[in-house]
Amino acid sequence: MKIIRARDYDHMSRQAANIISAQVIIKPDSVLGLATGSSPIGTYKQLIAWYEKGDIDFSGVRTVNLDEYVGLDANHVQSYAHFMRSNLFDHINLRLENTNIPSGVEPDAETECARYDRVIRGLGGIDLQLLGLGPNGHIGFNEPDDHFSKTTHKVALTDATVKANTRFFDRESDVPRYAYTMGIQDIMQAERVVMVVSGAGKAGIVREAFFGPVTPRIPASILQIHKDFTLVADEEALSQID
Ligand code: F6R
Repeated sequence: MKIIRARDYDHMSRQAANIISAQVIIKPDSVLGLATGSSPIGTYKQLIAWYEKGDIDFSGVRTVNLDEYVGLDANHVQSYAHFMRSNLFDHINLRLENTNIPSGVEPDAETECARYDRVIRGLGGIDLQLLGLGPNGHIGFNEPDDHFSKTTHKVALTDATVKANTRFFDRESDVPRYAYTMGIQDIMQAERVVMVVSGAGKAGIVREAFFGPVTPRIPASILQIHKDFTLVADEEALSQID
């Protein structure tokens, strides 16, 4: 595990964007695993800025997102499909047909999860997976559990996650209670994993996840044993680490 200590959110975002940009320059047909949420927005902004300067070409890149809320269609303003278009896809020369996100409107979990696993396998696996860190240690929507999940599955969001995500909705009752998420095995099989974490609010979970035991109760802790994991965190997020 490598740790890149950034000064603040903007610096963290540039550092993560540098790693992703190098990945795309070295392998133009990379498969990028992407995340939503507040943490990667700055990284996406920086990638867009470098694309606009002519420094990165996304035309050969394929993407696969971590997760989607069950029940939201791709045009719903809080869907992760919408998030990805407005924060990244609409601003770069990535081909939309090369992007993949679980379908929130497929009601049959078995069908959708099997389809998404075929998509990941069909891409030949993930070259670089970008992650954020949930306040309870979740990655994707792999919530604390008594075992590590493997492949794509439907998950009931914990109260902590529903509360944390209420900030994106008008009221807590609007937050979907279920999501489809890539599994821990899918994430662990990525060639390279980069996580962005920022702010004092994540300092405790950063310490527990990366300086405590590996346990499914803190799903992100398994990244300690990934062969190429880089944590890009700002000083506040690392403030409980010696
Ligand atoms: C998003 C995702 C989640 C978030 C996590 C942190 O696709 O899979 O695991 O990365 O909830 O969210 P933020 O960055 O909003 O604190």
